[in-house]
Amino acid sequence: MTVVIPTKTLANGVKMPYLGLGVYKMTNREEAIQAMRKALEIGYRAIDTAALYYNEEEVGEAIRTSGVRREDIFVTTKVWNSDQGYDETLRAFETSLKKLGLDYVDLYLTHWPVEDKFVDTYRAIERLYEEKMIRVPGVSNHHRHHLEKIFAKANVKPMVNQVELHPYLSQEELRAFCKENEIAVTAWSPLGRGGILQDDAIMKIAGEVGKSAAQVILRWHYQHDIISIPKSVTPSRIEENAQVFDFELSAEQMGQLDQLNKNQRFGQNPDNFKFDF
Ligand SMILES: NC(=O)c1ccc[n+]([C@@H]2O[C@H](COP(=O)([O-])OP(=O)(O)OC[C@H]3O[C@@H](n4cnc5c(N)ncnc54)[C@H](OP(=O)(O)O)[C@@H]3O)[C@@H](O)[C@H]2O)c1
Repeated sequence: MTVVIPTKTLANGVKMPYLGLGVYKMTNREEAIQAMRKALEIGYRAIDTAALYYNEEEVGEAIRTSGVRREDIFVTTKVWNSDQGYDETLRAFETSLKKLGLDYVDLYLTHWPVEDKFVDTYRAIERLYEEKMIRVPGVSNHHRHHLEKIFAKANVKPMVNQVELHPYLSQEELRAFCKENEIAVTAWSPLGRGGILQDDAIMKIAGEVGKSAAQVILRWHYQHDIISIPKSVTPSRIEENAQVFDFELSAEQMGQLDQLNKNQRFGQNPDNFKFDF
């Protein structure tokens, strides 16, 4: 089976696939490479990694051995919190590029808005964009007030904001703000880390459309113009998650899914985050 994954045209005209493979926690080298190669084989054309995931080398290797041309794959990586600041970000980017074994990255993101640093971090990302080392500048885990601080200093607005987003955390206000500013929204933990797959309402809709709960959720993202990056190391799930472009949810089903929002996070809040690494 191969799938053609539709793309979203970003503010600068670059096309980003609506679905990519997230590779967080894929630290077993062979398992990670196998998962990425499987994804590329069946039609995924985007991989979402980060310096923090310690698998940028594996991403590069999977791409080089996939048989898919580099320029047909959209690679995202991110600068980790302890490397933020202007010069530090430029250095962190060099390290990521080397590990990936690539000569450019498609999308480079500030991983979290580290207080007093995230604006300088973004200015370095902007410089990498001007120097054509990245095709798209972006951020992750930025609330509206973080973005506004960046707008005040940047020449080019971020074109992507990657945030936790799923039916239990639908982020409607942030999505509207991003839309106004031509910032594409990417959902991380689009399946709520697997924690919302047993939801009764989602399972009921899955029964109605003859799809799995995961497919219903990923379709909900797509119909809301949200890019998603579900993670799986399981070949059958990697395939299942890509089969979401051959059916449609009705307006009523979309409305039922919208009503599941309870502002519930499975990860940390960008206003109050703390990592021990
Ligand atoms: N920017 C950020 O701060 C940030 C934070 C977190 C994540 N992310 C990105 O977002 C990606 C996805 O987020 P995530 O990994 O936290 O959560 P997720 O994609 O919502 O869920 C992943 C979990 O769901 C399982 N799963 C996947 N497809 C399934 C299916 N069809 N049926 C049943 N279970 C399924 C996976 O299991 P198996 O792997 O065992 O199959 C895994 O345990 C990450 O990999 C990363 O790239 C970014």
